[in-house]
Amino acid sequence: MKIARFSRIGFILAAAGSAVGLGNIWKFPYITGEYGGGAFVLVYLITVALIGFSIMIAEMFIGYKGRKDTVTSFEELAPTKKHLWKYAGFQSVAGLLIMTFYSVVIGWILNYIVTSLSHLPASVKEAETTFTTMLHSGFWTQFFYHSVAFVIVTYIISRGIKGGIEKLNDYLMPSLIIILTGMFLYALSLDSFGKAFSFMFAPDWSKLNSEAFVTAVGHAFFTLSLGMGAIMTYAASMPKESNIVHSALWVVFLDTAIALVAGLMLFTFLYQYGSGPDKGPGLVFISLPAAFYEMGALGNFFAVIFFIALAFAGLTSAVSLVEPMVQYMIDRFRLSRIKAALSMGLFFYIIGIFVILSGLDGTKEYLTWGGKNLFDWIDFLTAAVMLPLGGLVMSIFVGYVVPKSEAEATLKPYLKSYFEIWYFSLRYIAPIALFIVILNLIGIM
Ligand code: PHE
Repeated sequence: MKIARFSRIGFILAAAGSAVGLGNIWKFPYITGEYGGGAFVLVYLITVALIGFSIMIAEMFIGYKGRKDTVTSFEELAPTKKHLWKYAGFQSVAGLLIMTFYSVVIGWILNYIVTSLSHLPASVKEAETTFTTMLHSGFWTQFFYHSVAFVIVTYIISRGIKGGIEKLNDYLMPSLIIILTGMFLYALSLDSFGKAFSFMFAPDWSKLNSEAFVTAVGHAFFTLSLGMGAIMTYAASMPKESNIVHSALWVVFLDTAIALVAGLMLFTFLYQYGSGPDKGPGLVFISLPAAFYEMGALGNFFAVIFFIALAFAGLTSAVSLVEPMVQYMIDRFRLSRIKAALSMGLFFYIIGIFVILSGLDGTKEYLTWGGKNLFDWIDFLTAAVMLPLGGLVMSIFVGYVVPKSEAEATLKPYLKSYFEIWYFSLRYIAPIALFIVILNLIGIM
């Protein structure tokens, strides 16, 4: 069987498509708002540069060498104890778990595209009522759009790497970049841009407690799609002549740039049109539509294209959350791609329904433990626990288990004299930092 591979640029777009997602445009602005801005942003940026980038290269390396699903790639690369190392590949389950709420949020976005066409809330109060009504009693709306997201994602994955995932990213990523750039330029022209800029870049250290620290590191992994095998699985279909280091640089650059641009743009709109940055997960669904309303006629147009851009970002990430387990089913259980896509799709689809129920009046009591509902628990366990843990395992695997000569043979031609710095960061900086994060987590829990 001929294996379909990405083209070189196709791989970069797909990996960037995976990285740039709801994490950048929905989550990053609201957690930045919650944790007070500058200091939080700084910890996130330092983590991306010092740890994220090295682990991105390590993850691409495992996939590129292994050429298979995550479980098989770990098994193949491990020099000894293969039967144990293969379990590291099961970090991909985190992707399906993330997808249970990711799909629900994509559903909210699809709903907002449709409603923003004709109506925007006239005040933050009205916007809040609309959003919480959907969350607390809009079962059928959420169910319908969650189903639409399930159908789109499953269909694209069933079309394969080349005809599904690469094509999707070829269209959606450039469109996303064009929309965001256009809106950002408009934000630049508004008076409040300066205020948004200082909120995001002037660090207020008093706000940085250990929870903020853990969240910032966890978010760096989440936003770069690290620690669960998405990048690894894509890298398994990377063309042989690809430059791993260049590709990793592009992905990290695009992801960071888009998060900063989205954050600056949103905060500018929020300050300009009368509300603050600390609105939690409802930020883009509550404060933003109310801000768009204040813009007048342009507002409807902006709202619709903004939610379209957000849906694009979400969908290109969603396929990468599910693809690793699909690839695993194909490689290890010889399932056809269609069957694999459908069975993994049904997994997140069904649990996603419980995620919806965990926000609804009447059922949420049964799906809430210790102050967090199912939605919050899955978000917390995946982003703050599983992804950093997956990253730790990968840094140990490439830093200590795989012979250095193998990493050198593949990466030195690209990293040149930086090879030793990368290797050092993988062996010492990343594991120590991740270990501290995990200790902190235990403290928080
Ligand atoms: N990086 C994606 C985002 O920012 C989410 C994601 C996490 C995708 C892990 C794949 C793997 O939204």
